[in-house]
Amino acid sequence: MPKNSAGHLLPGRLSPMRSVPAGIVKPEYVGKPAPAPHVGGDVYDIQTIQRIRKASKLAAQALELVLSSAKAGMTTDELDQIGHDFLVSQGAYPSTLGYRGYPKSLCSSLNEVICHGIPDNTVLEEGDLINIDISAYLDGVHGDTNGTVVIGSNPEAELLVERTHEAMMRGIKAALPSRQVNIIGRAIESYAKRFNYGVVRDFTGHGVGTSFHSGLIIPHYDDPGYDTEIVPGMVFTVEPMITTGGIEWDLWQDDWTVTTKDKSLTAQFEHTILITEDGPEILTIA
Ligand code: MF3
Ligand code: CO
Ligand code: CO
Repeated sequence: MPKNSAGHLLPGRLSPMRSVPAGIVKPEYVGKPAPAPHVGGDVYDIQTIQRIRKASKLAAQALELVLSSAKAGMTTDELDQIGHDFLVSQGAYPSTLGYRGYPKSLCSSLNEVICHGIPDNTVLEEGDLINIDISAYLDGVHGDTNGTVVIGSNPEAELLVERTHEAMMRGIKAALPSRQVNIIGRAIESYAKRFNYGVVRDFTGHGVGTSFHSGLIIPHYDDPGYDTEIVPGMVFTVEPMITTGGIEWDLWQDDWTVTTKDKSLTAQFEHTILITEDGPEILTIA
């Protein structure tokens, strides 16, 4: 099956593209090579924030459903079906489906896959670590979230998962108005470094709202060059990818799947957050 003799992942087979009922509004980028440039910045009015709240809540509910469904013996494609059917049943469009040609309704990133793993006929096994990243497009806006679980028991993976979640939460809590966005990565990296973990640099958090990725970058490592001021009304993601080894990566021939070069384990968590006068508010809560 899709693992080689060393236990490393190999690409599996994709199922046919899933359909979305005609009544569900698609983002403008579906069927195009790339999205239109983002306009309007990263600070939203209260009406738009209300819409982002709804999309974010749906994404969070979808994530909870998919992660709680993940069991040994299932394929990642079955998880994609579950996430897809849930979002569509709520009148939402799965943001990843047709985003820059991405073929599925969520990302499923197993073990050494850092991010953007494509659901296929890979079968989950006891001790696997799996991240699900799912986004909902509803009423013109996106909510984006991800989480990682361990199938069965794997102490090294469980520790990585718990610490990656804590790293994300520390990054979120650091996102106070009038600070610069680089405070977020500083908090994440200083925590992860305690355990000698790798903090991935080449994939980042991002502004999200009327666009899936606005162009605003939220690094998860300490880089003062990212000096955008955090202000009330801003919406963006915090989504650190942490490894038990290095931060170098390989890209599979599918042009999506990103793995650690050293095949070390990697975990990720993601929330969409709103900056309020009082501090960050997590929107991707079920
Ligand atoms: N949801 C991912 C993120 O957190 C983006 C996935 S893009 C895809 O930014 F095309 F790979 F699906
Ligand atoms: Co994201
Ligand atoms: Co995401």
